[in-house]
Amino acid sequence: MSGFSFNQTTVSCDGISLAAIADKEGTPLYVYSAALIRERYAQINHAFGDHPHRVHYALKANSTLAIARLLQDLGGGVDANSGGEIAVALRAGFEPCDIVFTGVGKTEAELEQAVALGVHTINAESAGELERIDRLACAHGRRARVALRVNPNIDAVSHPNISTGCRSHKFGVPLEQALAVCRQGAARDGLQLVGLHFHIGSQMLVVDPIRRAAATAARLAQKLLSEGIQLEHLDLGGGLGISYDGSTALDAGTYARVLLDEVASTKLNLIVEPGRWIVGPAGVLVARVVDVKRQDVDRYFVVLDAGMSELMRPALYKAFHQIRPLSPGLGDMVTCDVVGPICETSDVMGIGRTMPLPEVGDLLAVLDTGAYGAAMASNYNRHPLPAEVMVEEGRWRVVRRRQTVDDLLAQEE
Ligand code: LLP
Repeated sequence: MSGFSFNQTTVSCDGISLAAIADKEGTPLYVYSAALIRERYAQINHAFGDHPHRVHYALKANSTLAIARLLQDLGGGVDANSGGEIAVALRAGFEPCDIVFTGVGKTEAELEQAVALGVHTINAESAGELERIDRLACAHGRRARVALRVNPNIDAVSHPNISTGCRSHKFGVPLEQALAVCRQGAARDGLQLVGLHFHIGSQMLVVDPIRRAAATAARLAQKLLSEGIQLEHLDLGGGLGISYDGSTALDAGTYARVLLDEVASTKLNLIVEPGRWIVGPAGVLVARVVDVKRQDVDRYFVVLDAGMSELMRPALYKAFHQIRPLSPGLGDMVTCDVVGPICETSDVMGIGRTMPLPEVGDLLAVLDTGAYGAAMASNYNRHPLPAEVMVEEGRWRVVRRRQTVDDLLAQEE
């Protein structure tokens, strides 16, 4: 089994002790398992079997260049959400035809970049955006490949901040308008309407909304096909959740079966855009304890050198991540609020955790942080971005060096 293993005395990543890496590289530090990323990509790709499909990894989950390169090497495509992510994809070796470009607020410059490159598909979010893409494409004397992002008004049953498929969410075109917008789009000289795009949310653990969105996509596609609009694919987005607390979660096989059940009859190619599922479990954040203090008779604060500037998820979504000491604690089990160093009460890593009381200088690992960890890190409180390490084939290397305060100040007057 690839990835992180835990025994009485150490935590290691593919056989290499996390403490040894942290002692050399310092903390806070992200560590990734290349083998586990490979394994998970292969698993979700194979889950779709013989049905014509392509996995377009959602770069927003983690666009560190070494990870993007790894995915490129595995033969996938990408879902890019900005001009910056398109640039990362190209730098990682993806061709324009490997890139689907999604995003609720694409700027004129980003659309120009995508049209000029000739990306696989621009997932358009509105009638107005289709019109803008048409104008740019005509100016380039080409036809841009577009899909319409449809908002089916389906609740993903996930955290409200990461659900995107309800009418009140800003994403896509409401289902009732979709047919008309598709017809108009398909009639434009500068556009080739090649697909439909649905993405109703992230960290989805319930099958029913996934099935309903896929069924809705298939029905709309059949209607367009029957009108002679030659769609090539259905892009059903990302969103497959992972288990953060060890309970059983939806597996890739079930997810793929549900999608294929609904869309196979259209005979269209299937695109999926998983992010979290591929990289989430393949990364950990290693942090050092900088203070321990008593909060109450039987409760302690454990203050780390990593907080919401390195990992936003607990502060932003009250997300749960398991926290493991890198060396076995000797004391009795106590209740700890594990927190970061940032000047905000929301800056927490884990509340009410039972663990042997750590000491200043001890190392802890925050698990399942390969997705939306480093990618959402910030310089709040002037924290330099953490270093990132990749473990691959029995060795480790720094794939992103720790930012310095000089790096931070270099851009300022
Ligand atoms: N495709 C589109 C159009 C998306 O908006 C997203 C995620 C994905 C694919 C990938 O979704 P995934 O397979 O990773 O669930 N920061 C949040 C997650 C935000 C997801 C945004 N969109 C978190 O930490 O939970």
